[in-house]
Amino acid sequence: MWWPAGPRTSSSRTMAPPGLLLTLLLLPPYHVSGQQSGGSGKGKSPTQLLDSLLLSGYDARIRPNFNGPSVNVTLDVFINSFGSIQASTMDYKVNIFLRQRWNDPRLQFKEYNESLSIDPSILNKIWMPDLFFANEKGATFHTVTTMNRLFRVSPTGDILYSLRLTLRLACPMQLQRFPMDHQVCIMQLESFGYTTRDLQFKWNDEEGSMPVQTSPEVELPQFEIESVETASCLKVYSTGLYTCVEARFYLKRQLSYFMMQTYTPTILIVVLSWVSFWINMDAAPARTGLGITTVLTMTTKSTGVSADLPKVSYVKAIDIWMAVCMMFVFAALLEFAAVNFTARLQKVEVEKWGRRFSRKKQPQVQVRVQKRCIGIQKNIDDVPPNYTGLILVDSQDPRWEQMETNANENETSFTYKTMGVAPLIAEREEEVKAPPPKPAAPPGPPETFRDKAEKIDAVSRIVFPMIFLLFNIGYWSSLLAMF
Ligand SMILES: *[C@@H]1O[C@H](CO)[C@@H](O)[C@H](O)[C@H]1NC(C)=O
Ligand SMILES: *[C@@H]1O[C@H](CO)[C@@H](O)[C@H](O)[C@H]1NC(C)=O
Ligand SMILES: *[C@@H]1O[C@H](CO)[C@@H](O)[C@H](O)[C@H]1NC(C)=O
Ligand SMILES: *[C@@H]1O[C@H](CO)[C@@H](O)[C@H](O)[C@H]1NC(C)=O
Repeated sequence: MWWPAGPRTSSSRTMAPPGLLLTLLLLPPYHVSGQQSGGSGKGKSPTQLLDSLLLSGYDARIRPNFNGPSVNVTLDVFINSFGSIQASTMDYKVNIFLRQRWNDPRLQFKEYNESLSIDPSILNKIWMPDLFFANEKGATFHTVTTMNRLFRVSPTGDILYSLRLTLRLACPMQLQRFPMDHQVCIMQLESFGYTTRDLQFKWNDEEGSMPVQTSPEVELPQFEIESVETASCLKVYSTGLYTCVEARFYLKRQLSYFMMQTYTPTILIVVLSWVSFWINMDAAPARTGLGITTVLTMTTKSTGVSADLPKVSYVKAIDIWMAVCMMFVFAALLEFAAVNFTARLQKVEVEKWGRRFSRKKQPQVQVRVQKRCIGIQKNIDDVPPNYTGLILVDSQDPRWEQMETNANENETSFTYKTMGVAPLIAEREEEVKAPPPKPAAPPGPPETFRDKAEKIDAVSRIVFPMIFLLFNIGYWSSLLAMF
């Protein structure tokens, strides 16, 4: 006979201490009869044992306890790695060992004391729970160097089946508070074809065992696993009630990455845009350059941030931040436009005013002036119309027109040409050489536009940082309160 039953059996017995990994090849069918007749009980080789288990009436198409109590499958999951939680696609990847334990009374044996580790190719010949991941988007088995599966059967017919999987699981996210958000990612293990009458999953929650165990090396790039919870998620479909268990991963996003990559740079850009308020308003190229650069940098920054995020319809916390920062840099640019425009208004207004004044042939003020003079500034309005003293003016001011130069080198006669406001320096002198001054010219613009423009800059230096500070206080307190 091809099969040397006796010696092989005994040698196997001695060579196979309990718990030894047995890699068994299933026998071709023509050995069935010999092996079956070869005997039952202690004298069986492992091959004979398995053959006797699988070939003598075992039907993989029928679940254990057919028509009887449901098969109860105990599950546990060991997480090797957990990562790439992507907001843009709303999914995450896990690499797990999925362990299923169930009892198949048809696989009981007495020949060995301990459970046997058998090559997983046997799985094609026995019944298995039809577990699937309800929120799976994609999954891969691992086949290097062999299929990463484990199969163990104990003398009582308890089966342990473990396999290594990489899964991409959907994780619907609420991103309103992004990047200070908490997410709950779930993993649902469900039976595809057997209703709860036939198959029931439950988590392995015996004492001392964790149904979902995470490898201590698991390190998430952006998140921190706060806790893992397990629950039941019975599914009701039109075809019946299906058993389902789920693991819920409570994740908390770590802010430090966004602090360094998003918040700090944008704060610096906003602060940079304020530098413009300290630059001379006549330096238009410098100030527009600064303004446009900051606006463009903000645009790039916010595009970069939203590229990693799904195009959701609601507003996220980071959108508010980006929008406000954008408004600040834009407002700084507009502020310069206002300043520049106001300053230019000065020239226009002065010319208009001057033209009107000369058109009306207003009596001109003629004053005598001492060339070297230092003193208080006076408004032309303060000079009484019949004042016949000497008024000292700043002879460098182009608004005064030199009329005559006296023989006295210290005195010159000037005529007030255009402006109502002029730096007059009055000084009384007993000797009157000029004709009595005529009524003063109508008052000019009370405050020059250039002064106004400077005031806009001065106010902006205070107001912009204050508003930004207030916004920051409001933004961070409201978000961190919820964090
Ligand atoms: C499985 O559990 C259910 C209830 O939880 C029980 O009625 C049934 O008998 C169990 N099945 C087996 C094979 O023990
Ligand atoms: C089972 O184990 C016990 C003790 O470990 C031992 O005494 C017994 O002989 C073993 N039986 C078989 C069938 O190996
Ligand atoms: C100027 O005229 C006012 C009245 O019109 C008169 O009260 C005043 O004394 C005069 N001042 C001088 C310096 O003449
Ligand atoms: C011009 O002013 C100087 C210094 O104030 C003085 O010494 C000189 O006498 C003055 N000249 C005339 C012509 O008044």
